[in-house]
Amino acid sequence: MSTTEARNRIGELRKLLDEANDAYYQEAAPVMSDREYDRLLEELRSLEEQYQLYSPDSPTHRVGGRPTKEFPTVAHPVPMLSLSNTYNSDELDDFDRRVKNLLGHSNFSYMAELKFDGMAIRLLYKKGKLSLGATRGDGTQGDDITANIRTIRDVPLTLSGDYPDNLEVRGEAYMEMAAFARMNNNRAESGESVFANPRNATAGTLKLQDPVVVARRPIRMFAYDLLIEDDNRERTQQQKLDMLEELGFRVCEHRILCSGIKEVHEIITKWELLRKDLPYETDGVVVKVNEERYRDILGQTAKAPRWAIAYKFEAEQAVSRIIGITLQVGRLGTITPVAELEPVQLAGTTVKRATLHNEEEIHRKDIRIGDQVTVEKAGEIIPQVVGVVLQEDGHRGDPFKMPHDCPACGAALVKLPEEVAWRCTNNQCPPQVRSRLEHYASRDAMDIDGLGEAVIDQLVSNGLVSTFPDLYRLSADDLVPLERMGEKSANNLIASIQKSKEKPFDKVLFALGIRFVGITVARDLARAFPGIDALAEASEQSLNEVHSIGPRIAGSVRSFFENPDNLKMIRQLKEIGLRFHSEEPGLVSEKLAGKAFVLTGTLPGLKRNEAKELIEQNGGKATSSVSKKTDYILAGEEAGSKLDKARQLGIPIITEEDFFEMIK
Ligand code: IVH
Repeated sequence: MSTTEARNRIGELRKLLDEANDAYYQEAAPVMSDREYDRLLEELRSLEEQYQLYSPDSPTHRVGGRPTKEFPTVAHPVPMLSLSNTYNSDELDDFDRRVKNLLGHSNFSYMAELKFDGMAIRLLYKKGKLSLGATRGDGTQGDDITANIRTIRDVPLTLSGDYPDNLEVRGEAYMEMAAFARMNNNRAESGESVFANPRNATAGTLKLQDPVVVARRPIRMFAYDLLIEDDNRERTQQQKLDMLEELGFRVCEHRILCSGIKEVHEIITKWELLRKDLPYETDGVVVKVNEERYRDILGQTAKAPRWAIAYKFEAEQAVSRIIGITLQVGRLGTITPVAELEPVQLAGTTVKRATLHNEEEIHRKDIRIGDQVTVEKAGEIIPQVVGVVLQEDGHRGDPFKMPHDCPACGAALVKLPEEVAWRCTNNQCPPQVRSRLEHYASRDAMDIDGLGEAVIDQLVSNGLVSTFPDLYRLSADDLVPLERMGEKSANNLIASIQKSKEKPFDKVLFALGIRFVGITVARDLARAFPGIDALAEASEQSLNEVHSIGPRIAGSVRSFFENPDNLKMIRQLKEIGLRFHSEEPGLVSEKLAGKAFVLTGTLPGLKRNEAKELIEQNGGKATSSVSKKTDYILAGEEAGSKLDKARQLGIPIITEEDFFEMIK
């Protein structure tokens, strides 16, 4: 590819990916699959690297850059104020009266928006390009977290439509509850600490030093304010929100322009009931005078504007009593303590159990059996215990003692020094077997229709299945005797089990349930290694070289393949006919046909795996040791003994640049 061709392709890819992002996030109507999206992004990343054609607003920058050591401080020329709060209708009427008094008339309207419960951020755009992303800090100065902000897909890196050279946007970064719950469950499952609620998770994430990690967390953003330096004082909040939408931001889709405070009251009453149906948390309604010229007259106090107020909803909490603490065993043996509660009504459902996360959390909150506790729904699928409501008589049970045996199989629990969770290490522990199988059959993994919790439960307790290969040995006759299983559903289930053999390598890899290997990591591994054998033999170091994989994942993959039981299982699955190879990437050219290359040293632009892939895609072969059969040595910096040997044998030594020439 010539530089011009590369430039064109890069432009094309950036456009495609930006459009895909918009379709996914702004219109909620994906135009391409995740797999296709990842493939294009990967192509773009490698072209940008190969031809050194970078741009700060490229979609590749959404997945982070290099870690920075600490955040520089930025001043906020227009302070980031907070809002005054009210908790009842009378106070809201007081606000309305104050505004009318100060203005001397009532010829204005209110804009009512949802109050998003996340973290305020401030974005600067110069000539339509994102140039700064900052936290609120103390209101007058905050942290420059631009690298992290760039990873939020709702934040346009380049604005659409018409815009002035300098423009500032303010809004709320947050997490949707379902995504938050998934993230927290994964964290708990892998023994990491959990976040108390989506707001803490957002704030904690945006302050991380590594944007690559930030990029993997489900952060979203709503814009609520636009600052333009001109003397147009005739704008309204309504117009600004519409403009923000045209520029490419998401704004509150439930905003309503109200002619008076009566309408505002109605909206609040409506959202008090409906907010539980929203995919994100809202803790109130923000009421703003719509006309900017009146805002100027109303002004502000040191902390908050006089032209706006936040009406806060009652927190969705309830008080109950802990009647017991039970332990749940997860897929990887992680033990999660759960509070068994006296049933209580909370946000429309009856709550009987609440997660206590881990032993540390129980001790930190000093939760004991018999305690009255506050329970809250904070984006968790099951609610959590916020804290103890101490009784006047001061009478309490004994502090909680964590059992040291698995409640399901009796094996001794262990806790690694760097982890918070206790773990059952018995691989055959029934709840672990069951959840491994559930994971294996799940939609994102092998997608086995009809193999749900209830069926798995019976298969495991009847001793029919304990490993993945066992599934493929089942016959319809084995299944028919199970509860609620007719002949037809038995046949269907067998058919869908058999059909799962066609799943591609990345899904199989994900289905195996290797600790820390989620769907994205599985995809990256399947791309970097041609098959399971290469992966099983990969050293921690070469695993570490794969995009998105750090030492923690590398270590976990290594130890999975060091376990003889796992190797045996893989051997059996291979015999059964599962796909343990990436589909052939296909030849791009035959320019290197029949040529054998040996790689040595660090190449300036290509990683070892990438160079190997390029060699193979062009018909060549990459081998590891230098011999008379070697045609070329592709050498980078700090090349070692292979170079000496090549010199002795008179094998041509080429640079990365020469290599690109060969395959151009
Ligand atoms: S307008 C002068 N609109 O609430 C402040 N704020 O307590 C103008 N917030 O830090 C803020 N949703 O992060 C505004 N629709 C909304 C909001 C909103 C959430 C946050 C904001 C601010 C905090 C104030």
